[in-house]
Amino acid sequence: MTALPDPAALTSAAVSVLKRNWAGSHTLPASGLYPHQWSWDSGFIALGLRHVDADRAQQELESILNGQWEDGRLPQIIYDVTRDDDYSPGASFWRSNDLPAAPLVPTTGLIQPPNHAWAAWEVHRTNPDASERNGFLARVYPRLVAWHEYLLVRRNRGGNGLASVVHPWESGMDNSPLWDEALARIPDTPQHVIRRPDLAHAGAGERPSTKEYGRYFWLAEQYRDHGCNDLEGEDSFVLEDPTFNALWARSELALADIARSLGLSPISHEQRAQELTSALESLYDADLGLYVARDVTTGSLVRKATISGIIPLILPGLGQAPAVLEALMGPGFLGSSPHMVPSYDMRAGDFEPAQYWRGPAWFNMTWLVILGLRVHGAHDDEAHRLAMNLQSLALAHDFPEYVDPVTGAPHGTRNFSWTAALALDLMHTEVAPL
Ligand code: SER
Repeated sequence: MTALPDPAALTSAAVSVLKRNWAGSHTLPASGLYPHQWSWDSGFIALGLRHVDADRAQQELESILNGQWEDGRLPQIIYDVTRDDDYSPGASFWRSNDLPAAPLVPTTGLIQPPNHAWAAWEVHRTNPDASERNGFLARVYPRLVAWHEYLLVRRNRGGNGLASVVHPWESGMDNSPLWDEALARIPDTPQHVIRRPDLAHAGAGERPSTKEYGRYFWLAEQYRDHGCNDLEGEDSFVLEDPTFNALWARSELALADIARSLGLSPISHEQRAQELTSALESLYDADLGLYVARDVTTGSLVRKATISGIIPLILPGLGQAPAVLEALMGPGFLGSSPHMVPSYDMRAGDFEPAQYWRGPAWFNMTWLVILGLRVHGAHDDEAHRLAMNLQSLALAHDFPEYVDPVTGAPHGTRNFSWTAALALDLMHTEVAPL
């Protein structure tokens, strides 16, 4: 079993990454590759920051809530206009300030997975005094409710209660093999001239391809050009993703806790969490033994074994938990003894260990898997091994964005904020098995 890294060294290195990436009211995911505020990054970052700076953890979440639209959506990115040339597409692509429902701060129209209510509850729970002193929960609760309401009213495209994503960027797993088939139907000829500032910070072999970028921009233009209006526009890419919806259900459970602590009724949130957990069963693929995406435009399941189909383990009462645990422990994932959990079945012909979401192990995904194992009281030793590896690899390689699951070699950018935050979190929460 991998040795635990020295806690003092890990704390000091992780805290210094989070300090360096702090931009005054929020943390940049990475100062070069991602120079703005990203939505689900802030959720994961707050989960780590809560152990070292309660005020900053609250600020992180309130900063992303500041970008909330009138319809309740929380945007994928809030832009720093002074750095518009450093990332593409930038604020000038989205022109959100022209839309009446958009906030004052410039944002994308797209969204990202809803881990915010969950993070808010954990931030509160870790430092209830700091939270109660400044009324944190009372301030964020109505906004978080509006965010979830947006998902329910505007994103229930398949009609079964699950939220759909209308762009791969919304899943957070941009070039996951789950999107290949649907993307193949999308033109790769946007009007926008594509720039790739990302390639100055990570190798082309570690990032989505030029063809994929063509399709990403085409889809983003389609959404932007119908005013980011979910109810009236026509979207060519509409998919239900297991991780997105599992995080939503987990966040509904957190909203129930928040409501209870504010003296409000938790019932509607508990019911929603239950409904989402049940609706996830429609994404289960019995042959693969895990959850997959559903293409709402064709009605069919996308039968590929990816990390997204394992993350629903974070939900208590998950219908197919025993089968998913078996798939997780099997040869496609942990059965091949990788350092951390790969993002794609290691036996797949197109598995690529360094290519963004097509194989590498990501720190947030492994963190979620560890939690899923804890939720189901399964494979304690394996959960502990993953927690040790996550902390060791984070520290050894300057907090990489992702790693080769087999060799542990670092890929993507370095000094990546959620890697530092989640390593810090495990350092505070992980207890060795007896
Ligand atoms: N992950 C995207 C990127 O790489 C943005 O959300 O740019």
